[in-house]
Amino acid sequence: MWDYTDKVMDLFHNPHNMGAIATQDCTTTETIAVGEIGSIVCGDALRLYLRIDSTTDTILDARFQTFGCASAIASSSALTDLIKGMTVDQALQLTNREIASYLGGLPQEKMHCSVMGQEALEAAISDYKGIPVRPEEEDESPL
Ligand code: FES
Ligand code: FES
Repeated sequence: MWDYTDKVMDLFHNPHNMGAIATQDCTTTETIAVGEIGSIVCGDALRLYLRIDSTTDTILDARFQTFGCASAIASSSALTDLIKGMTVDQALQLTNREIASYLGGLPQEKMHCSVMGQEALEAAISDYKGIPVRPEEEDESPL
């Protein structure tokens, strides 16, 4: 069994911010961005949703869905907690080491699970900056 910290176990059993963000939760000055990542190491997947105030580039809400392991669930919970209230550029500065230290550490073999969250964040922010997903075009298909 992996040597997980209490914080990891707590967020695994009581994940924060799990689920999707629906377009009807958005006002006209807000954009939903989505980032999807699959891990080459284990084949797990993570989808991250951001609700962003497009006048200030501030992340108002962040949610995730994953097929990943306990580390991925805990890392994604930590990530989504940490980036709420940040601007997208501040969020891009967040490293997976900071995510891991917020969790009190991750087993070395599980660091890539936190990298998956960070990569999904980068993908979601590219989505926001490049080709914003307009509400009517949002892909509602389940993960
Ligand atoms: Fe598969 Fe972590 S997400 S081992
Ligand atoms: Fe898949 Fe950890 S083994 S992300």
